[in-house]
Amino acid sequence: MRDFIFFNPVKVYFGKKCMKYFGNEAKKHGKKALLVYGKGSIKKNGAYHDIVNSLEKAEIEFVEFSGVRPNPVLSHTKEGIELAKKEKVDFIIAAGGGSVIDESKAIAAGAVVDFDVWNFYTGEKTPEKALPLITVLTLPATASEMNMGSVITNEENGLKLSTGAEVLYPKASFLNPNYTMTLPEEQIVYGTVDAISHIVEPYFNHTAEYNILSLNVADGVLKSLKENCENILNEPNNYNFRANHMWSVTVAFNGLIRTGLGRSEFPNHAIEHAISGLFPDVAHGAGLAVVMPAWMRFVKEEKEELLKRFGQNLFKLENHKPDHTIEAFKNWLKSIGAPVSLGEIGIKENDIEKIAEKAYEVMQFWAMDTDKYSKENIEKILTFAL
Ligand code: NZQ
Ligand code: ZN
Repeated sequence: MRDFIFFNPVKVYFGKKCMKYFGNEAKKHGKKALLVYGKGSIKKNGAYHDIVNSLEKAEIEFVEFSGVRPNPVLSHTKEGIELAKKEKVDFIIAAGGGSVIDESKAIAAGAVVDFDVWNFYTGEKTPEKALPLITVLTLPATASEMNMGSVITNEENGLKLSTGAEVLYPKASFLNPNYTMTLPEEQIVYGTVDAISHIVEPYFNHTAEYNILSLNVADGVLKSLKENCENILNEPNNYNFRANHMWSVTVAFNGLIRTGLGRSEFPNHAIEHAISGLFPDVAHGAGLAVVMPAWMRFVKEEKEELLKRFGQNLFKLENHKPDHTIEAFKNWLKSIGAPVSLGEIGIKENDIEKIAEKAYEVMQFWAMDTDKYSKENIEKILTFAL
């Protein structure tokens, strides 16, 4: 087991009645808020209604900033920063999925500095202060509600990069599983795939001992993600499935599972971010469903034992080879309706070169092993996904 520092200050309010605490929590952070959301799904799932009611009761003034798009972009983020500055808000409320929360983190950090917020994403600067952030989650996928990451795309060059800093942890996050009832099936699927990928990246990074707590927790969370996703697709109105799924997704990427596994590289994410940076209509989870089995094929000799463990745990395989795990994983992804080839997400063979170049650039920003992930090898992985 490797040394680690674990820190997670996010206060989580979970459950169907959690919003009764919202007003009191909000009061702790000031008298005027910026309420950030996307296209308007929060007006159909009850989140908007509950937030506005709570703010009015708590006598907190608020300004709305909507239109955050999936795979959020820098230009819209900058509009949010200008508005937060102009309105002199004390704190930010993010209501939606990962895109809304990530853009809200950028607004929270950008509203207290005078330079271009993109500097945080290129690594030229690190956020050292930020406005307080409260999130109301409506889509379990990224765990941004309980981590310090934020991912933004610069539309001018198609670069999708991330930043992370302790000041970006939300102060509190409200997780009401009932808000997820309006999600289209594909968003449940993409969210599940994203959460699985958040475990896959550190899980396969590990090389030494197999019987350590984090891997055992990971096995349990992976099973819960798979089973609850299947259950929700069969019985969408079941609260218990929704609740277990929502919390499993958050636990998948709130830092707990990475403890003791050492520094993980995120090759699947780097390649996916190149895809959705260049093709913004591709959902993050859809891109990952295509990349993950192809990446597993690339590392199957190096990761033989862990691939066997993954197959035994999730698909009850016995006496199997890594290829059987990869095939079972791919078949399962297909069975829940996830894409498993580049063609299914609208990407052609002649796009591979430019995606590989962009992914290589992302990997350099992330200080990854670019000998292992040379442009040629990234192209090889993408070719496995044809
Ligand atoms: O625009 P709205 O109305 O909000 O609709 C959204 C959007 O169209 C909709 N939606 C959300 N909740 C809903 C709902 N529709 C009906 N009912 C509900 N209850 O779902 C669509 C997708 O939303 P989005 O926020 O884009 O999805 P997701 O949560 O998957 O976030 C993806 C973004 O997060 C980044 C991804 O790269 C991508 O940009 N990530 C962030 C991470 C982090 N901060 O830690 C880690 C991840 O690996 C990931 O990179
Ligand atoms: Zn992800």
